[in-house]
Amino acid sequence: TSEIHPNVKRVIYTEKEIKERVSELGRQISQDYKDSKNLVLVGILKGSFVFMSDLVRSIHLPNTNVSLEFMSISSYGAETSSSGVIRIMMDLRTSIEGKDVLIIEDIVDSGLTLKHLMELLNHRNPNSLHTAVLLRKKEGLKVDVPVRYMGFDIPMVFIIGYGLDFAENYRELPYLGELKEECYKK
Ligand code: PRP
Ligand code: MG
Ligand code: MN
Repeated sequence: TSEIHPNVKRVIYTEKEIKERVSELGRQISQDYKDSKNLVLVGILKGSFVFMSDLVRSIHLPNTNVSLEFMSISSYGAETSSSGVIRIMMDLRTSIEGKDVLIIEDIVDSGLTLKHLMELLNHRNPNSLHTAVLLRKKEGLKVDVPVRYMGFDIPMVFIIGYGLDFAENYRELPYLGELKEECYKK
């Protein structure tokens, strides 16, 4: 793992730093939900899959039914950046009514995806609805969206790895890295 991908300008967070932060989030979640009956962790594909898999293994809730669900959504509209209008490509398989729901996202940029997702899931009457996000681009936010569990605040650079892609590549990198400009600027 000491091999850095040639298209990575610099490593922003190492495997070890991510592991420690994710464990801490897991501890907080375990504390906050210890009295919950049903906790549904909703991973938003594809970006969240690595974060989700590490986070769930840091959650210890022996008295709670913990279940996992996944949603696949896509933003659409005329713009190249997120329009915030979301379309469900794959929905939850079970009802979340009366349950405690935690949305798991890899990154919040404009915040539009998460905002619309929260509105959508709120209509299904969960007992509670919160969010866990690994990365937030603070300067990217266009709307105010509540992030209850946050990994790292990051600058406006192109981040790849640990589930995050550029044109569907680099999701497999175990660390979070900055993509070299020459790889996305023509
Ligand atoms: C990314 C990310 C969030 C969203 C954040 O997903 O995983 O879901 O964009 O952007 P926003 O805050 O500006 O709305 P993407 O659409 O790239 O799909 P992916 O997870 O499959 O890579
Ligand atoms: Mg995503
Ligand atoms: Mn993406």
